[in-house]
Amino acid sequence: MKQNISQILQANAPIDVEAEGWIATVRTSKNVTFLALGDGSCAAHLQIVIGENTIERTLLSQLGVGAAIRCTGTLVPSLAAGQRVELQAQRIDLIGAVDPDYPLQKKRHSFEFLRTIAHLRPRTRTFGAVFRVRHALQMAIHRFFDDRGFIQVHTPIITTADCEGAGQMFHVTTLDLDAPPRANGAVDYAQDFFKQKALLTVSGQLEAEVFALAFKNVYTFGPTFRAENSNTARHAAEFWMVEPEMAFCDLAGDMALAEAFMRRIISDVLTRCEADMDFFDQWIEKGLVQRLEKVVQANFAHMTYTEAISALQQSNESFAYPVSWGLDLQSEHERWLTEKHVGRPVFITDYPRGIKAFYMRLSDDERTVAAMDLLVPGVGEIIGGSQREERREQLQQQLHFFKLNPADYDWYLDLRRFGGVPHAGFGLGFERALMYITGMQNIRDVIPFARTPGHASF
Ligand code: 4AD
Ligand code: MG
Repeated sequence: MKQNISQILQANAPIDVEAEGWIATVRTSKNVTFLALGDGSCAAHLQIVIGENTIERTLLSQLGVGAAIRCTGTLVPSLAAGQRVELQAQRIDLIGAVDPDYPLQKKRHSFEFLRTIAHLRPRTRTFGAVFRVRHALQMAIHRFFDDRGFIQVHTPIITTADCEGAGQMFHVTTLDLDAPPRANGAVDYAQDFFKQKALLTVSGQLEAEVFALAFKNVYTFGPTFRAENSNTARHAAEFWMVEPEMAFCDLAGDMALAEAFMRRIISDVLTRCEADMDFFDQWIEKGLVQRLEKVVQANFAHMTYTEAISALQQSNESFAYPVSWGLDLQSEHERWLTEKHVGRPVFITDYPRGIKAFYMRLSDDERTVAAMDLLVPGVGEIIGGSQREERREQLQQQLHFFKLNPADYDWYLDLRRFGGVPHAGFGLGFERALMYITGMQNIRDVIPFARTPGHASF
């Protein structure tokens, strides 16, 4: 196999090598041309030195920023600061020429502009770092679960159940939308592809529960879809979620797993992506690495929803949204709690029944459920989880309370009478975790091709 630039930069010079990539910068000084060549394999570029008369003038004039080349030559120790080696070119082949209107010239571009050229932005240094870290983070997640014996389940993307009960789902249909078949005035889904109304999943949790009650410890990691019309920096219509589910487990065990998980995946990325993390620390958020190192070391805080509400009420902050027991916490409240009040990641537990999903276990007070959200500075809610209602009768009451049709959940109810056990799990928003780890401020900039209200290009 050919060596990528990351490997070439670590090779023992002098040695003959062949490097392929895209030109990031071109500089000429005293008839010597210097190219910075990148291939996405690492944060650093390989400097290529083209001596006078090494290559033809016409070829030299075609070596613009963005062009793809192959360079053969000798890797030698470099005298320049910031690089150990450089490549003395003997031969250059132009593999992919670049037109002069290539938009990624040397100046810094805004992230807003780069979103409009999502087909080219992966070649920039920032997005190179973002997508390498995205890869490293998902590997860290799989390693964490694999080390603990968790089985990964591929839960379906097309579903017929609204797991979160929020009704913000995309339909999947082959019906003619201009003239759908009708029965009794309503659209007749019996004539649709699946012979019933089908949707894109908002969460793989319900199916993960099925597998937890057979394999004990499982997780799903896949795309989820929410048709929430919230145009914020933290919401996407398509995002990835990591959802572990554990049988014979309660809320305390769930939070213990979530904490160990967060710490381990952060420390994994810090050690495996040192250069990229230094880049974020320097250019995106000063002090990022130190902040994350502290998170790896310190324990997360815990407080109940009821405690959080009193803290918010006594805070003397003027919030845009009201604070009162029974109302959901808004992003501004979550940020205040984790950033100002406790100053580190905090689990909020025992939320009112009415603002959480039907599957959460009803507590003895009958007002709250065994729920937990993990809030982190800079992002707010990063994880949502709970102990599930394992008692059939209480689950039926919950379905009734939320006006859900028990017939839609027959298999889910079945699990409660065929060897059901206490079980719990959580969902980590993968992009929120990436924002937290990279310091990137907008979810659109940690996802290769973001889908948000009004945007599905590329
Ligand atoms: O809190 P949520 O809605 O929980 C669930 O879906 C449960 N079924 C999880 C479980 O217990 N297995 O979503 C989980 C996480 C949130 O904490 C947030 O990080 C992320 O998913 N999330 C989003 N991320 C990006 N864009 C959106 N629109 C998101 N909605 C939720
Ligand atoms: Mg939530």
